[in-house]
Amino acid sequence: MQTLALKSPPGRGHKPTRVRVCDLDELPVGLGRAFTLAGRAVAVFRARDGQVFATDNSCPHKGGPLADGMLVGHQVVCPLHAFRFAAGSGECDQPGVCAVTAYPVEVEGSAVYLVLPAA
Ligand code: FES
Repeated sequence: MQTLALKSPPGRGHKPTRVRVCDLDELPVGLGRAFTLAGRAVAVFRARDGQVFATDNSCPHKGGPLADGMLVGHQVVCPLHAFRFAAGSGECDQPGVCAVTAYPVEVEGSAVYLVLPAA
């Protein structure tokens, strides 16, 4: 897992914070990669169609590490019990299981940025 420091705290001034995460080529297609951004454990995924998604790394079911799971289409599959989460919205396919937090991702050229909400 890669930990990235921020030059200023996230959400300072009550604005979302845009953080450069990595280069697009550093994300394996169809798999997850874990990062720690400003104390948040985040899983970042690159789909086969080139879209990039980011969610919290901890599964809301029993804490499975989502970055160790796979991306099937645009769904994150938890490695522990195979619950699926919509990569864009974080909604779970199982009734009664909370959604995982999903983060906006922006790709500019080869650079991947994640937008953290205001504190
Ligand atoms: S811990 Fe993720 S589905 Fe159970």
